[in-house]
Amino acid sequence: MKLSVIGCGYLGAVHASAMAELGHDVVGIDIDARKIDQLAAGTPPFYEPGLPEILTSAMASGRLRFSTDIADAAGAQVHFIGVGTPQKAGSHAADLSYVDAAVQSLLPHLAAGDLVVGKSTVPVGTAARLAGVIEASGCGASLAWNPEFLREGFAVKDTISPDRLVYGVPAGAAGEHAAAQLNEVYASAMAAQTPLIVTDYATAELVKVAANAFLATKISFINAMSEIADVSGANITELADAIGFDNRIGRRFLNAGVGFGGGCLPKDIRAFTARAEELGRGESVSFLKEVDAINMRQRQRVVAMTLQALDKPVYTAKVAVLGLSFKPHSDDVRDSPALDVAVQLRGLGADVMATDPQGIENSRLRHPQLTYSTSIEETLRAADAVVLVTEWAEFKQIDPVWAAALVRVPIIIDGRNTLDAAAWRAAGWIYLGLGRP
Ligand code: UDX
Repeated sequence: MKLSVIGCGYLGAVHASAMAELGHDVVGIDIDARKIDQLAAGTPPFYEPGLPEILTSAMASGRLRFSTDIADAAGAQVHFIGVGTPQKAGSHAADLSYVDAAVQSLLPHLAAGDLVVGKSTVPVGTAARLAGVIEASGCGASLAWNPEFLREGFAVKDTISPDRLVYGVPAGAAGEHAAAQLNEVYASAMAAQTPLIVTDYATAELVKVAANAFLATKISFINAMSEIADVSGANITELADAIGFDNRIGRRFLNAGVGFGGGCLPKDIRAFTARAEELGRGESVSFLKEVDAINMRQRQRVVAMTLQALDKPVYTAKVAVLGLSFKPHSDDVRDSPALDVAVQLRGLGADVMATDPQGIENSRLRHPQLTYSTSIEETLRAADAVVLVTEWAEFKQIDPVWAAALVRVPIIIDGRNTLDAAAWRAAGWIYLGLGRP
């Protein structure tokens, strides 16, 4: 099929490349010329494992090209909208200006029978409004909402082999036609018996925000338990293992630590709350404000633990920060708890040196006041305390005996509860985890 993908960020660039890899003829479009130039040269503008490989092979096949000209979408039968919906400045609501602009700019290039497919995470009600815009234009195209559940770091796999597909479609024949077109796009997932839910717009939009709200709640739940563990002497990791054996609960997303960040979870729970308030049902999801508060508190907790552990005033201390990206396998530092902790410590006067396998470049753009190093050894040297805030394998593999010889004072704050506390203590370290005695 001929497809266009509007927006070539984390979502769109992966989607365009994966769809071409699956055999479709794809044009990826973005208004950012730098991004398009990089993609067209076969170099993704961000780190995503597996993406360079499929980008290169799809481009070599001739099935994938990139453009800054929306007119190049003409001729495609299905047009995916994968632009960002960041948090609005000065509000918790989602900024829909990129989605609206993408649809408006696409309208003149749509033909009768074309399908516009929203993938961006939007407040419930957006698809119905956009369907009205498309209908009013008289172009004869229709709209479906097909939320994306990909995780950064696993985006290629999640796009090529999704764990489920959700289509929000209009009622009647138009909806059947839309579902049939999407089944053709996702023919390989269909052949693999991927679970499919065909539903209305509102449900499809809500599925995405509800899934992210649930995941965020699960993380904040375990972080709240870890606060109780701290004051009661319980061990949060053993607690998570024990409750996680209950299949109804499950062990995943029960890792206590410095909390969730990234371009999705934090802004999605805020936008959900804002939308529920607009709909007059703010109280239904008011617990998400608590989820957010618990999450943000973990960053303060890690900073406070560091200050307390230091044997000297913070403004005279060198603090080594291991981790900047919001999670491993990503260079994304949007709303990253790790970067936030580094910045807060720097703001208190500490001489912060931070390292990360992928997140330095993006962090430097936002916070040039921090000192960055690509070397773990240099980062640790003469440190008065070490704070681990992203659980990269490179950090988990650090030999505590080797590291103890580098630092000035062997204190480690494990903000991800990821190290072997006994091994670090045996090597002479003061080891401090969150909710771990
Ligand atoms: C998330 C959703 O998982 C994905 O389905 C959706 O499409 C986009 O948002 P992503 O932002 O890539 O994906 O990251 P995810 O793997 O969900 O992690 C989010 C944050 O939660 C990270 O900062 C991670 O470190 C943190 N986290 C995760 C925890 O603190 N504890 C856990 O147990 C799990």
